[in-house]
Amino acid sequence: MLLTAPRGTQDILPGASANWQYIEATVRDICRLYGYKEIRTPVFEHTELFLRGIGETTDVVSKEMYTFTDRGERSLTLRPENTAAVVRAFLEHKLYAESLLSKLFYIGPMFRYDRPQAGRYRQFHQFGIEALGSKGPAMDAEVIILAVQLLERLGLNDLKLFLNSVGCPECRPLYRTALQENLREKTEALCGDCQSRFERNPMRILDCKNPKCAEVSTGAPHIVDCLCEDCNAHFEHLKSLLAAAGIDFVLNPRLVRGLDYYTKTAFEIQYAPLGSQSAVCGGGRYDGLVAECGGQSTPSIGFAIGLERILLALEKQGLLPEVNNGIDVFVAPIGKENQSIAFKLLCDLRKNGLTADMDFMDRNIKGQMKQANKYPARFVAIIGDEEALQGKVMLKNMQSGIQELVDNIAVQNKIQLEMED
Ligand code: HAM
Repeated sequence: MLLTAPRGTQDILPGASANWQYIEATVRDICRLYGYKEIRTPVFEHTELFLRGIGETTDVVSKEMYTFTDRGERSLTLRPENTAAVVRAFLEHKLYAESLLSKLFYIGPMFRYDRPQAGRYRQFHQFGIEALGSKGPAMDAEVIILAVQLLERLGLNDLKLFLNSVGCPECRPLYRTALQENLREKTEALCGDCQSRFERNPMRILDCKNPKCAEVSTGAPHIVDCLCEDCNAHFEHLKSLLAAAGIDFVLNPRLVRGLDYYTKTAFEIQYAPLGSQSAVCGGGRYDGLVAECGGQSTPSIGFAIGLERILLALEKQGLLPEVNNGIDVFVAPIGKENQSIAFKLLCDLRKNGLTADMDFMDRNIKGQMKQANKYPARFVAIIGDEEALQGKVMLKNMQSGIQELVDNIAVQNKIQLEMED
């Protein structure tokens, strides 16, 4: 046990971290294009925030939270998602006073106690954005298009964007009642979870994965047919904006999402080759959350993308870029007596911005050349007794194989000139 990472967690080893950096760099670049600024919040928050923000009846809160009491008797929870925490930070630091619209993004670990399988972990990473302040459907369109553009830029095609509206506190209660009326006679055929959802959260029955529940709810009324005028106009406008931007979407009246804060727009992006964990992105509008957390009413929308799932998808499709581990120079002293000169050269090269390394294992020159090849290094700077005596370095261009005796102090220039060629 001591030598095994906890179930549902993964080490990101040096061989894989470049893939993460690649995804994160693409994320940061897209966020720059769209004007979203990074926010970093703590990995744990007061438990109350998630109870209030996400909803006590949701699976995430009732079954999946890592909650603990700290030494000061406070109940804290490792964040299962970041929307509630961003809202908390938005209010705590009065970001609303800085501008009418706050466009924020985050990348970081989230924690859910769920049954691990491929694509589902107990510690996983999300990239998410939250736009707080705008109620217009153009904001929804921007958020959705950002997600689509990111995934496309990474090379993922065949994505499916599912879209729905889950209404607002005005129209949803009416729909809820209509749905309960429709299902009331058939509750016995529902799975245990859905039976308990019937009173507490009946809309969740619609997206239960159990085929029996899907059968029971076939023919149930659709929320899009029960939307109030405002929600309906919002949804129609959003659809027209997406169509005008050339974004394909599929209307899915059963898409309700697993977190209670959603209002109006709900969306999910699926990548079918991932199988059962095919949801790579989920999001929606949450116009009531900021007020629920104690602030002024602030219409908001966002999404989160599961980065492990993106990585799996990119691996599957062979879309990860080749990692370049190469360095500019390998410094190779011959004999212990020349190590100090070599070390000084190494330090100078690095100070001047070249990627450089040397042997720290007392290898002979043959071993050092092997190491240089393994990187691979573009140049090897060899310092033997003769070179040391003359204040010179034997510089070998590993591509051409040409060796040249160069003044120690001129090595840097020589390398840079050759690299520019
Ligand atoms: P979510 O649908 O719970 O939404 O999660 C978003 C994405 O995180 C999922 O589509 C999936 O890719 C990934 N994900 C979730 N759970 C796991 C897991 N156990 N293992 C691996 N990946 C996982 C939210 O979290 C909302 N906060 C999104 C949002 C932001 N809505 C508005 N703003």
